[in-house]
Amino acid sequence: MKLSEHLKEVDGSIAEIILLVADRAREIKKAFLTHNFNSNTKNMFGERQLELDKWADKLLIDALRRSKLVRAVASEEQSSIVEIVKSKGELGVVLDPLDGVSSVATNLSVGTIAGIFNEGNVLEKGNKMDAAMYILYGPLTTLVYSAKQGVHEFVLNHDNEFVLRKENITLPEGNIYSPGGLAIDYVDEHRQFISQLESEGYKLRYSGSFTADFQQILTYGGVFSYPSLKEKPDGKLRLLFEANPMSFIIEQAGGRGSDGVQRILDIAPKAIDHRVPLYIGGNKPIELVEHFFRGDVV
Ligand code: AHG
Ligand code: MN
Ligand code: MN
Repeated sequence: MKLSEHLKEVDGSIAEIILLVADRAREIKKAFLTHNFNSNTKNMFGERQLELDKWADKLLIDALRRSKLVRAVASEEQSSIVEIVKSKGELGVVLDPLDGVSSVATNLSVGTIAGIFNEGNVLEKGNKMDAAMYILYGPLTTLVYSAKQGVHEFVLNHDNEFVLRKENITLPEGNIYSPGGLAIDYVDEHRQFISQLESEGYKLRYSGSFTADFQQILTYGGVFSYPSLKEKPDGKLRLLFEANPMSFIIEQAGGRGSDGVQRILDIAPKAIDHRVPLYIGGNKPIELVEHFFRGDVV
């Protein structure tokens, strides 16, 4: 089944945005050959941008603008919210145009992440989000979306069509752990959590590309973490562009997203560059890490 047919069950404007991002993803996939070099600019997080980051950002924002369905876009590569004044539509879209760019040089998988709000306020709690999606550019190009009716995966086939690969994905109870951040910078609660996972036989798999690591957790089960660190108490990952869309998807698949203390989707963003410590995966490991942060005896 084609993505467009599957989306017939989904609200019209949201379905159009999912298809629009899917369309642009076909172009982004080709641009890894042509736009793979450093630019001389940095984004609002002080990270050097790849030409690909900027190119993919423009490609997606231009397409969202042309759709006339979107009122506001917040992107990891833009230092302020992009307001689309002439739009008739009311949607809000949050974007990580390219996630895991350090993996471009090593030819590992990278992604595109998006979240969609029916009401155009993008500086909003994730629990107000109406749909989320990501594309993973790996050996296969796959697209995962949820619009609150399950989590579904599609694959780009020989005819350049996204066709259904897995429907109604549920998170298995697996034992993969993906620990971001330097171990010497771990805070005590996180160190205890990681030790406990290791003593329970969890297997380490970390690529440095959140989308790829997330996909691994969604497939095999377990937990991804990018914790609060001594030098970076808020961690690294961004609430709007990374933590929220993926927490939306993991919850729809039966798992949880937490900052160690509270549900990610209940955190009110203070600004577009709001970062959060992130634990995302199965209920069991998330409960375990929350025990450590609450100071409970496990
Ligand atoms: P981005 O490429 O959008 O800037 O995101 C990079 C993120 C994420 O993909 C990954 O989980 C994390 O940064 C990796 O950080 P480390 O290099 O510290 O492991
Ligand atoms: Mn990212
Ligand atoms: Mn990015």
